[in-house]
Amino acid sequence: MQQQLVDNFNRKFEYLRLSITDECNFKCNYCLPDGYQRTHKKQFLSENEIKNLVSAFTELGTKKVRITGGEPSLRKDFAAIISSISRIPGIAKVATTTNGFSLEKNAQDWFDAGLNGINISVDSLDPKTFHLITGKNIFQKVMDGVSAASAAGFQPVKINSVLMKGLNDTNLDLFIQWIKKQPIQLRFIELMQTEDNGKFFNKYHISGQAIKDKLLKSGWIQKKPLSHDGPAQVFTHRDYQGEVGLIMPYSKNFCDSCNRLRVSSLGRLHLCLFGEEGIDLRDLLTSPADKEKLKTRIVAALADKKISHYLALGKMGSTPHLASIGG
Ligand code: 5AD
Ligand code: SF4
Repeated sequence: MQQQLVDNFNRKFEYLRLSITDECNFKCNYCLPDGYQRTHKKQFLSENEIKNLVSAFTELGTKKVRITGGEPSLRKDFAAIISSISRIPGIAKVATTTNGFSLEKNAQDWFDAGLNGINISVDSLDPKTFHLITGKNIFQKVMDGVSAASAAGFQPVKINSVLMKGLNDTNLDLFIQWIKKQPIQLRFIELMQTEDNGKFFNKYHISGQAIKDKLLKSGWIQKKPLSHDGPAQVFTHRDYQGEVGLIMPYSKNFCDSCNRLRVSSLGRLHLCLFGEEGIDLRDLLTSPADKEKLKTRIVAALADKKISHYLALGKMGSTPHLASIGG
């Protein structure tokens, strides 16, 4: 029988989030408030290692890869990585999550290289607040990147916004207005606690529930989740071309629809964003001859996947910030 990635709770994993660097040029207050600290020169996975890795995953049923960071586009070979992943048989979707700083220049190249999904982080539509949150005074440049992504053919463009009390929950109407005539999926993500951001978390965390209530009251309808959607709850409205997604990791049953595995930029397999150190795969990534061993190691690791992250119990494991593992 062909090996498949199914865990003990009958969840199927067809989605791989692959970090290709943990470096970032932004200083998001919830993630890297002091900026990226280069401690020593790390050897991130090479294009060849990435090819061998994704190839093994596709033989286990993986159909979608999201390339993450840090900021993935800081890698000079980013377009080459997109292209090589998209050519692996069995891969239907190659997506990325970017802070958008070089999107205006590169959106078309990435699309042409085979990228067919893009999430852009825009935490505020107010330029000053955007600067305050990200440490970068380049709101307009990122917005021009969003337009360039639409023009390049990404459909829909997805926007990630981390909800922060008093910082960006106050201009929700502006966000919603923005998608009236644009086929953008806005995704509000509840702030997650990591090892490094405890104080910040306590000050700024708000639940997405208030937004959900507000949406439902004003005519938005929750879509039936598709099996490959993962944990986002998605809402549509007949007067709006865009959609709203809510990602509420602290809500009950959030983990039931988990459909993703993660591999860090140093080649460690993480079964969950939170709580474990990862399983090293790197020794099996250099040569395609190790593919069967690699598949066996991945399948064996999945047997240990827990039912939930237990975040609500205050657990956050060993994730210092999400740049370290790609969010
Ligand atoms: N909580 C929620 N979302 C986060 N991200 C990064 N750190 C956190 C956190 N602590 C999001 C970013 C980006 C994606 C890569 O992950 O905003 O959209
Ligand atoms: Fe960089 Fe993303 Fe972290 Fe912001 S959230 S500092 S853009 S890795």
